[in-house]
Amino acid sequence: MRYLLKGGLLYGESPADVLIEDGRIVKVGDVSEGADEVIDLKGAYVLPALVDPHVHAREPGQEYKEDLHSVSQAAAVGGYAHIAVMPNTSPPVDRPEVLRGLKAKAETLPVRMHFVAAITKGREGKELVEMGLLKEEGAVAFSDDGSWVSNPAVMFNALLYASHLGLPVITHAEVPELSKGFAHYDPINLKYGMKFRMPLAEELAVYRDVRMAEITGAHIHIAHVSAKESLEVIGTFRERGVRVTVEVTPHHLLFSTEKIPFYDPVFRVNPPIRSEEDRRALVEALKAGFIDFVATDHAPHAPYEKEAPLTDALPGIEGLETAFSALYTHLVETGEVSLKDLVSLMSGRPARFLGVSVAIEEGREANLFVFDPKAEWRVKEEDLASKSRNNPFLGEVLRGRVILTFAKGSLAHRR
Ligand code: DOR
Repeated sequence: MRYLLKGGLLYGESPADVLIEDGRIVKVGDVSEGADEVIDLKGAYVLPALVDPHVHAREPGQEYKEDLHSVSQAAAVGGYAHIAVMPNTSPPVDRPEVLRGLKAKAETLPVRMHFVAAITKGREGKELVEMGLLKEEGAVAFSDDGSWVSNPAVMFNALLYASHLGLPVITHAEVPELSKGFAHYDPINLKYGMKFRMPLAEELAVYRDVRMAEITGAHIHIAHVSAKESLEVIGTFRERGVRVTVEVTPHHLLFSTEKIPFYDPVFRVNPPIRSEEDRRALVEALKAGFIDFVATDHAPHAPYEKEAPLTDALPGIEGLETAFSALYTHLVETGEVSLKDLVSLMSGRPARFLGVSVAIEEGREANLFVFDPKAEWRVKEEDLASKSRNNPFLGEVLRGRVILTFAKGSLAHRR
């Protein structure tokens, strides 16, 4: 099959056609050859496919929220060709057999799946998984995401083994005793008597984990950073040469306690949405290149689990389908971040983290998406391919839209 993407702007800059034959990019530039299908892009942007190293697919065990098939559809709709899924499933991905089953299922799906294995058996924080065997089975990293590995001796050993294996450890950095509640610690939430998840919970956990990475020589990756103090700790240890990478989510970049209705459970997430000062610090760190990449932490939950009083609603935000448009609308259109930097933060940089390539070059497998920067759309439930609906952009008008995605060499999504 031959596709000709005609009249697009490569990286949003230079006019170029893209010829794709049997899954490979065979020509980029002025193409006059024919094709089975010619798609007129009318000046839309041709961009390297997005890559998300932090996604919750809920399979096995919670397929009523999401499964590998539905999450891959949501990813394709959002312009993604590679996603890494987290192991907080039921059972967790803490044994090679579980990983083997998931890998087999993922083979036929439209986007490429990578698997993060748990750090501890049952994600209980007590006993390490067989890290070597899980690496042999294909695990790309280790994480007990959703929980912090509280026991320092367990985490120390995990980092030691991970450094020998050459894989990163992804930490969900929140000391549990300081994060029993659900709200950011600030005057607004204090006034309403909320239970907190303190920024200090993140700062202390980040400190312990990067210090242990310094001693063990491991690569530590900080998931979903939310507090400005954590950035300071990371900066200090980076200057000392520690291999510490960090991701930020679209929701921590775009929302703050000053800007969201505090009682709306769709915004309940761990770590919580923090102050405007924290949000600004995250945006500035993103602009400065300090933050390695953007990851969605796509965390689908069933409507009945979210449409509950704030105290009972489950934490998590879904958003593979809307991530790029939301950041384009609020950071690129406003002049804060260039399109080139946003693409790098959601494509090239996370691709490097996972050790994959999505470059639009002749000879490579086609992994790209087409983005119409002029589109304006109000996000509706039917725009979400996920099984869940806990997306905070529902009802909002976004600028720019993914209209086509090639992943694994095939057309994975088309509007
Ligand atoms: O809010 C969250 N939900 N934070 C996490 O780290 C885990 C996620 C989930 O799995 O629902």
